[in-house]
Order: sequence, then C-alpha cells, then structure tokens
Amino acid sequence: MSEAVIVRAPGKINLSLSVGPLEADGYHSLATVFLAVGLHEYVAAEPADTLSVEFDPASSIPVADLATDDSNLVIRAAKLLAETTGHPAGARLRVKKHVPVAGGMGGGSADAAATLVACNELWGTNLTRTDLESLAAQLGSDVPFAVSGGAAIGTGRGEQLARTLVGGELHWVLRFNDRGISTPAAYRALDEHREEFASDLGPVSDPAIDPVLLQALRAGDVRALASQLVNDLQAPALRMRPELVDALAAGEQAGALTGIVSGSGPTLAFLARDAQDAATIAERLRAEGHRVAQVSSPAEGATRCQ
Ligand code: C5P
Repeated sequence: MSEAVIVRAPGKINLSLSVGPLEADGYHSLATVFLAVGLHEYVAAEPADTLSVEFDPASSIPVADLATDDSNLVIRAAKLLAETTGHPAGARLRVKKHVPVAGGMGGGSADAAATLVACNELWGTNLTRTDLESLAAQLGSDVPFAVSGGAAIGTGRGEQLARTLVGGELHWVLRFNDRGISTPAAYRALDEHREEFASDLGPVSDPAIDPVLLQALRAGDVRALASQLVNDLQAPALRMRPELVDALAAGEQAGALTGIVSGSGPTLAFLARDAQDAATIAERLRAEGHRVAQVSSPAEGATRCQ
C-alpha cells in the first residue's frame, strides 16, 4: 500500500434543517446549517488498471452487505472525475467506514467526497477544491459539504454552500441505531404528513434559518445553540421510529443540553456542555447498552492523511 493515497472525510449533522415544498425535480428546496463532526470515513486509493471498490472489514460498522457495483457512490465519484479530466478511470479504492449507513449523517456522501480528493491526488489531475465541490454537487446534495467541512449554510438542494463561523469547539454524543432510515422515505413521510394536514398547516413555507441560531453558533454559546436546534425531518423520523422519542429523552436525562435527530435519522445527536460532560453522557448511554460515539466539531473537510 506504499503508493496509496488515503483521504478522510467527515460525517455531518444538521443544526437546522428547514424543508420547503417538493419541487418539480423531485427534490425539496432546503435551508440548512451543516456541521461536520469528528467521525470519519477513510478512502484509500491505489493505482490499478480498472476501477474497483471494496469495504475494509476493519470498519466499525457492518459492511458485508454494501454494494460494490457501479451504483456505489465511490465508483460514480471516481468515474465522474475521470470523465471530467480525461484521465483513465483506474484505481483500487478501499473504504473504511465509521459513519452509519442510512443514518442521516451523510456517510455515503463522505465516501464520495473522500474519493474525489483521493483520486485527484492519485491521478495528479490537479482540480481545485472549488472544481471538486462542483463535481460533488452532481453526485448528491450533501457531497459538496463533505468536501468543504467546517460549518456551512446549505441552500438549493443543500449543495449551495456559504461557510459560517463556529466560535469554539462543540461536543456531541451520537447514538447509533442498528436499522437505518432511507432518506427518500423520510422526505416522503414529511410530504404525506403535510398533504394529510394541509388544511391545518396551510401552504408549506419557504425554507429559512433563524439568525439567532447562527449568532449562537458564531458566539460559541452552547446553551443558546441548544435552544435553537430544529429539524423538519425529525417529526417524520419519530413517526417512523416511535422508540426514538424515549431515546431522545434518555439522552437528556443522561445530561445532554438537548438532543436532535440527525438529518433524516435515525442517528441521534446530543449536545453536551463540554468534553467532560460528553464523556459522562457517552458512558451512561453505553452502560444502558447503546452504541454511541463522542465527537467534537467542527471537523475539517475531505483531507489527505497519508
Ligand atoms: O441528493 P441525494 O441523492 O443525496 O438525495 C437523496 C434523496 O433525498 C433524493 O432522491 C430525494 O428523495 C431526497 N432529497 C430531497 N430534497 C433534497 C435533498 C434530498 O427530497 N433537497
């Protein structure tokens, strides 16, 4: 593996996820605040004559059932870079996964982002970060953010990014679930609920972000931030998985300032006052038999680590 380029890319949570109406292209207009967290996917790229992907059995989540054919976002990312640059599409790609599959944390998007950066290095194709971000947008709504990392406001489908500042390190405990939620299913459940209760809810508003949340984030005011976290996909996720209601309460009882469903779920993100509190919360939830990870944020975007 001496010639391998290894790149890591972060998973994300959404501090605010405001979902507008369903558009004609099948996507919803969004206004979201992405935060990259210290839970990473690793992609190792080695020279090879053809393109292939495999999952590292040393991953911290089960990978045996994941597709390795052309539908895999890693293969699609490498092919897109090859087509764009005219470079022959050859690389052996090995993915080590830590971000849950269908967990609402953008794990597949992080794989695609890491692949773009790794193949760009391996092939010497020299695209800029901006070039890579625009290729990323063709692969999925969350892929540009996995390239850029940090914290950002996402609009459009979530792919149009404006960086935002975070005034200090934020500490989280993530609680994982064995069974994922498909992202389209979560959006569909939201649409169905909105349709069913249209006469009570009124027309779907344009997506928006409360400036108070951005202010709290910039100031690093963790208590103010805790009171501002919102996710329009949380209600559908809780309807699909009612057990998450108690799980959110359990995290708060364990000492979290607040808990939220991450993206389309079902991963839960609990915000802690500081690193020490996060360690205590993680320990308590672990003692109750849950799979958890303590992470800090913001994390940097897709970066070569070897
Ligand atoms: O862009 P991406 O392929 O990650 O989106 C996956 C699915 O999530 C889409 O097919 C769509 O069902 C839903 N989605 C949406 N509106 C968005 C982003 C995603 O409806 N802005």
